[in-house]
Amino acid sequence: MSNRLKVTPNDLSAFWMPFTANRQFKQAPRMLVAAQDMHYTASDGRKILDGTAGLWCVNAGHCRPKITAAIQAQAAELDYAPAFQMGHPIVFELANRLVDVAPAGMEHVFFTNSGSESVDTALKMALAYHRARGDGARTRLIGRERGYHGVNFGGISVGGIVNNRKMFGTLLGGVDHLPHTHLPEKNSYTRGEPEHGAELANELERIVALHDASTIAAVIVEPVAGSTGVLIPPKGYLQKLREICTKHGILLIFDEVITGFGRLGTPFAADYFGVTPDIITTAKGVSNGVIPMGAVFCTSQIHDAFMTGPEHLIEFFHGYTYSGNPIACAAALGTLDTYKEEGLLTRGAELAGYWEDALHSLKGEPHVIDIRNIGLIGAIELQGIPGSPTKRAFQAFVKAFERGALIRTTGDIIALSPPLIITKGQINELIDHVREVLRQID
Ligand SMILES: Cc1ncc(COP(=O)(O)O)c(C=O)c1O
Repeated sequence: MSNRLKVTPNDLSAFWMPFTANRQFKQAPRMLVAAQDMHYTASDGRKILDGTAGLWCVNAGHCRPKITAAIQAQAAELDYAPAFQMGHPIVFELANRLVDVAPAGMEHVFFTNSGSESVDTALKMALAYHRARGDGARTRLIGRERGYHGVNFGGISVGGIVNNRKMFGTLLGGVDHLPHTHLPEKNSYTRGEPEHGAELANELERIVALHDASTIAAVIVEPVAGSTGVLIPPKGYLQKLREICTKHGILLIFDEVITGFGRLGTPFAADYFGVTPDIITTAKGVSNGVIPMGAVFCTSQIHDAFMTGPEHLIEFFHGYTYSGNPIACAAALGTLDTYKEEGLLTRGAELAGYWEDALHSLKGEPHVIDIRNIGLIGAIELQGIPGSPTKRAFQAFVKAFERGALIRTTGDIIALSPPLIITKGQINELIDHVREVLRQID
């Protein structure tokens, strides 16, 4: 019997699960054993409709044949090649293909293995860029309250979710934060971008006045914040942030780990908002979540600033053993082929109106205090149980799984981000599950 088959719910103690209430989970495990297209199969054989694209990553749906075949073929041909001082053809092919779908101006790609690594790579790239140009006093990094940029030290330092920060000491020095943009009293039940709050970008001017622009390397924001419970930028906010960064020579980094690869109905959020940052971080959808991979895009201006010293010297002292791993590259190429053949990088735009109406039909259901949406992202904010934050939404998550839908909750917010292959019928099904769950929970 293989090890896999020997694992039973009585044998769960060794695995320390990430971002999970381990003791609670192990008393009543929720196990997934297979997946196809829009559905998981649970260990009891039930089909579970995937309302979250796994963890915002399986944009093309599950077990897609092109991706599976590409991985199988690559594993049999070239399993691994050293990432440093050696190359292999498909990593160069993939970089070119990615540049082709990226926003204009994003001309170079640095590979990582996750969103967290992409973020730390981008922050290091920004710091080293200024230093390479002889502007090495620019060492400050500016994030935003409620931001999520993964779990590595750079990411939690610029991030703004208190539970992800408070246990881990002093983090990086020289970091400041913009205020978050969540204004429920003005913007609740907004469809798409909220009307109010663009002026919050001006807080960057306050931070510049405090520290002086000559000390600030970069600002990093999620164009649409996901993990904090879906915060959509107010109209004009990102444009303002871009203007202020440009005015002061500060690099603007968009963390597109969840918005990259079609989530908003455009290839990237930068396309959706018409704002071009200097660096874009991605992961998740780049390889459809199938094999870990991340990709950091940057402009030629940034890349070329490194290409100046003696040619035999390494220009950027950074990289990972698995940067551009051949099997991950094959998965990403299979993913890009699937996106292209099925028009998935823009399919969200066709469905966004239907999705919006379906989500907002939940207004008035028990516990609901706000609904917000953009592209194929939706959030339903619940009134928390006094004294027991997160409990109500977690009940909803468990009940939804029992009914046959995978939803995601953060705080007391239900966040939905289905694979981009979802049909209108499946949108109805997903929303009906949520409606029934809201009516059943305390
Ligand atoms: C915006 C953003 N950045 C970074 C990350 C971290 O990605 P990973 O979990 O692959 O390290 C996430 C994950 O959800 C994310 O949403």
